[in-house]
Amino acid sequence: MMGYVHLIFLSTFLSVSMTSEMFDAMEGEALVIKCPRWSSAVKVTWYHTATNRTIPAEEEGSRIFSFNQFLWFLPTSREDSGNYTCVIHFSNNRTKPFNMSVQVHPYKQGVCFPSQIRYPNDTGRGKIVCPTIDNYKNATIVQWYKDCKILQGQRYFKGEKYIFINNPRKEDDGYYTCQFIYTHKGNVFNVSATRIFISKAKHSPLPPQILFPKDKDAIEVELGAALSMKCRARLGIKKQAIAVVTWDVDNIPVKELNSSRFHEKNYFFEGREQEYYREATLHISEIKKEDLQANFTCVALNEMHNTRATVTLKLKAPLGLPNVLLVAGSLVLLVAIAVSVILYQSFRIDIILLYREMFQPYSVKDDGKIYDAYVIYPKCHTNEANFVEYFVYQVMPDILENKCGYKLCIYGRDIYPGEDTASAIEKRMQKSRRLIILLTHQLINCKELAYDQHIALYNALIQNDTKVILLEMETIGTYEKLQESLRFIIKRQDESSET
Ligand SMILES: *[C@@H]1O[C@H](CO)[C@@H](O)[C@H](O)[C@H]1NC(C)=O
Ligand SMILES: *[C@@H]1O[C@H](CO)[C@@H](O)[C@H](O)[C@H]1NC(C)=O
Ligand SMILES: *[C@@H]1O[C@H](CO)[C@@H](O)[C@H](O)[C@H]1NC(C)=O
Ligand SMILES: *[C@@H]1O[C@H](CO)[C@@H](O)[C@H](O)[C@H]1NC(C)=O
Ligand SMILES: *[C@@H]1O[C@H](CO)[C@@H](O)[C@H](O)[C@H]1NC(C)=O
Ligand SMILES: *[C@@H]1O[C@H](CO)[C@@H](O)[C@H](O)[C@H]1NC(C)=O
Ligand SMILES: *[C@@H]1O[C@H](CO)[C@@H](O)[C@H](O)[C@H]1NC(C)=O
Repeated sequence: MMGYVHLIFLSTFLSVSMTSEMFDAMEGEALVIKCPRWSSAVKVTWYHTATNRTIPAEEEGSRIFSFNQFLWFLPTSREDSGNYTCVIHFSNNRTKPFNMSVQVHPYKQGVCFPSQIRYPNDTGRGKIVCPTIDNYKNATIVQWYKDCKILQGQRYFKGEKYIFINNPRKEDDGYYTCQFIYTHKGNVFNVSATRIFISKAKHSPLPPQILFPKDKDAIEVELGAALSMKCRARLGIKKQAIAVVTWDVDNIPVKELNSSRFHEKNYFFEGREQEYYREATLHISEIKKEDLQANFTCVALNEMHNTRATVTLKLKAPLGLPNVLLVAGSLVLLVAIAVSVILYQSFRIDIILLYREMFQPYSVKDDGKIYDAYVIYPKCHTNEANFVEYFVYQVMPDILENKCGYKLCIYGRDIYPGEDTASAIEKRMQKSRRLIILLTHQLINCKELAYDQHIALYNALIQNDTKVILLEMETIGTYEKLQESLRFIIKRQDESSET
């Protein structure tokens, strides 16, 4: 045991003290190399190893200069190849040297990377980080190459300092070169750095799913008004190594747009089963005409895949619902729900149990309630669940809230998973005038607790005479398999509609 511990210590020591870092640079480009960082260091000095000559700080016109941890070649020249030493000085007057080996490769037409590459290989699931870019302040990647050919296509997601290959395969193995621009005191330099990528892909257990918005949606807007668009995606179970949800406007990331009108906010949360969600909200402070021509794309990315949904904006058709006829308004609303549901998916929707009293215009403002309706829906993680969530998070709020001015309470939107859920649900239900229950097959087959919880709570509420609206989203056929409490509600509804 002792020997083993010793061995580890020794090899760690050796790897720190004996290896020298190696840098490959192309002739005529910028090169910035970095001395290892020690928190207790007071300063760092640089030398040409062979001659022990100090490399001074930057002066007017100097090509090679140092400052603390960094050594600059602006630009490189073939004769710069060689060894450089950085010496770290500690406060107790001790020092520690490191050797850095630089190889400048001659520029050749058509060659974009040196034959010998000393940056570590990336073996993995698709993320390829641009090597050394962290040494360059304010560098921007302009292009990625694979085996010297420009990389393009939807399979590649470009991050700030990496690219990500969707579902990497054997054919993706190769030399990946990032080319970036480095600006120093107004002088612009090219830098390129290459590393080898070897795919090690396995099948993804959970591809990212954008819950909303739906691809190809057209969102109604008014010129001059502000707009917030929320995109939510499920990216896996538990915290993800790579988890990005972000908006692009005409394929340009919002963060890179030079416009103060656009602003993005990000947020993440975990669901009940530790599903990992991220949201990106795009705020547009003022809709302009040109936005009606733009594509707004939400990109969701995890270690295995990337997926996107593109929406466009269109002018709101002038439509004024007269306040007087709220009942008529409710009818319009019901038809609207039915129509949009039919339009949105090939789901069979029968709205069998809807009530003449659904949104009757009684004076509600002082009944102590906050919400017009609490929405109960199944929360199983199946493919159909996407549609239900989309319906609940997007279609219903769009129609009921945005168009009709009702206020809904939706679990996952108004109650975040993770809050003390049971009591949060109970409180909100009590503050809601009605319950809307979405009936689907999932609801029958889904054994998930959350739903039972809803129902149990509902039982408690039955005495309170809360109005219930059942939306049958697909033909359920027999109700025998439904939870008993639900059957009871349905039965009660049937009876009351017959009377
Ligand atoms: C650095 O290189 C010099 C000359 O090649 C050598 O003498 C020295 O031992 C090296 N130092 C380290 C820490 O590797
Ligand atoms: C740089 O140092 C390495 C060993 O660290 C040595 O093999 C190599 O020859 C040196 N290069 C030059 C140009 O001195
Ligand atoms: C470090 O060196 C300076 C001058 O060489 C000396 O004055 C100082 O006492 C030394 N400090 C320590 C901690 O040895
Ligand atoms: C990186 O990949 C190349 C090509 O497959 C291989 O020759 C080299 O040994 C690898 N390097 C490391 C450190 O694995
Ligand atoms: C960062 O780089 C951009 C161009 O890539 C340049 O316009 C800008 O001035 C740079 N900012 C700083 C702080 O150097
Ligand atoms: C950087 O590279 C691009 C194309 O690879 C080239 O057109 C441009 O002139 C280069 N810029 C500099 C400053 O070398
Ligand atoms: C928006 O997307 C559509 C369909 O993909 C495409 O035809 C159109 O050119 C795009 N518009 C812009 C401005 O990129």
